[in-house]
Amino acid sequence: MSVPVPALADRATASADRLRSADRVLLASHIDADGLTSAAVAASALARAGIPVETVFKKQLDADEIDSIAARNQETVLFTDFGSGQLDVISKHVAAGDFEAVVADHHQPADPEDCHPDAVYDTDGYADFDYHCNPLLVGIDGASELSGAGAAYALARALEPEDGDNRDLAALAVVGAVGDMQAVGGELVGANSGIVEEGVTADVLREGTDLSLYGKQTRPLPKLLEYATEVPIPGISNDQAGATRFLEELGLDLKREGEWRTWADLTGDECQTVASALVQRAVKRGVPAGKIESLVGTTYTLTAEPTGTELRDASEFSTLLNATARYERADVGLAVCLGDRKAPLEQARKLLANHRRNLSQGLDLVKERGITHAEHVQYFDAGDAIRETIVGIVAGMALGTDGVDADKPIIAFADADGETKVSARATGPLVGRGVDLSVVMSEAARSVGGDGGGHDIAAGATVPAGEETAFIDAADDIVAEQLG
Ligand code: C5P
Ligand code: C5P
Ligand code: ZN
Repeated sequence: MSVPVPALADRATASADRLRSADRVLLASHIDADGLTSAAVAASALARAGIPVETVFKKQLDADEIDSIAARNQETVLFTDFGSGQLDVISKHVAAGDFEAVVADHHQPADPEDCHPDAVYDTDGYADFDYHCNPLLVGIDGASELSGAGAAYALARALEPEDGDNRDLAALAVVGAVGDMQAVGGELVGANSGIVEEGVTADVLREGTDLSLYGKQTRPLPKLLEYATEVPIPGISNDQAGATRFLEELGLDLKREGEWRTWADLTGDECQTVASALVQRAVKRGVPAGKIESLVGTTYTLTAEPTGTELRDASEFSTLLNATARYERADVGLAVCLGDRKAPLEQARKLLANHRRNLSQGLDLVKERGITHAEHVQYFDAGDAIRETIVGIVAGMALGTDGVDADKPIIAFADADGETKVSARATGPLVGRGVDLSVVMSEAARSVGGDGGGHDIAAGATVPAGEETAFIDAADDIVAEQLG
């Protein structure tokens, strides 16, 4: 049997054996697209292995949340898409006999000591903790090469019964990776590409080169082009009449039986016609070559899902999931992932419309209020105007827009139940120059009495209200140091 992530095979096998010896498992996961798909992959694999599972979702895993999990008196707890950053707390519970833990995650582990491939977890409170599947422990990048859902997928393959085949779950693992923005220059790389391969072999995935605009499955053609602001094309982007005219001039039938056609409805020739015309228009209007190149990219199609639905495209699927879990409706997203396509899908679509509206209003707000510049970071405070669970997405989207410096990490604040949520986003080039936001968030947060963590390119924290300025000062110093 092939293994999708060979470097994690031993850890996955040990973790799977541990889970098999459990009567039942409490599965705890994170409330975003990667967390949802992690949970769906793990829950499916457990169910197929005949192990009863109950799933709970948490916005952030901290000592209080882990206490509340311990209070459920479950013998075995599987953490997915979080847990590594809280290993210190989890292993204390394990040592105290509160529960046995298995972790499938890709976040920076709590103690750097743990990152040694041969780490033995029997000192410093890491008693008997062998069941830890995290790419960072085996030299794989957790921000761009394997997501939480990918770690859960490695575990799922190890859980496979002898006559079973869990490779169909690769489709969800890819949705998780895409949702965590792991596609580098549009393409999944490293351990992720091993998972893509298994999905292709299992006939649930297709990897292709296509227009890289968001909404190819569901948006009416003119809207697809009008809203495609990742690569602004003068006279088309943000221009409803212009986008429609552009398509009409190509002689395409824009409607069939009174309904708008989508990109997914076009024939191969029609796609070719539109794509070439778009590129020509971009060249003529002076769009930089690098931007034009990014008009075309790798797309991941879930071939078992119906054409023309959000579920068919990994990127659209992941946005649909974020629209549920980040709004306290992880149950809806999980049901969709597990194959329930009636009421939950309807509900998810309603939530998606709301999520889109919030993202666009959030971006408008950032534009209106503007960004404040420190020496090495830039920031905005959304107060209660942007939900804390999506302020990170807005910050990331803002980093690509006019008036926002692409050369500095962006930090965003939002009110969170009397405390302040912090989200930070960087770029590939900044990480290349030494920026590690997981360190920035955890150290700056600790210096003001808060808590944080994440990845080099995207991280977050919670700090006491009123500490925003002190936090920025600390973060600015740390980024300065990292840039040397
Ligand atoms: O908790 P989790 O690891 O699932 O979340 C990762 C977060 O980092 C996501 O919100 C994702 O969008 C963000 N990210 C990013 N840019 C990247 C990689 C991740 O904004 N290049
Ligand atoms: O919330 P946001 O999308 O900004 O989170 C970015 C990344 O930082 C996610 O991977 C999240 O799990 C992580 N994070 C964390 N600790 C926090 C807040 C966020 O590890 N207190
Ligand atoms: Zn994740």
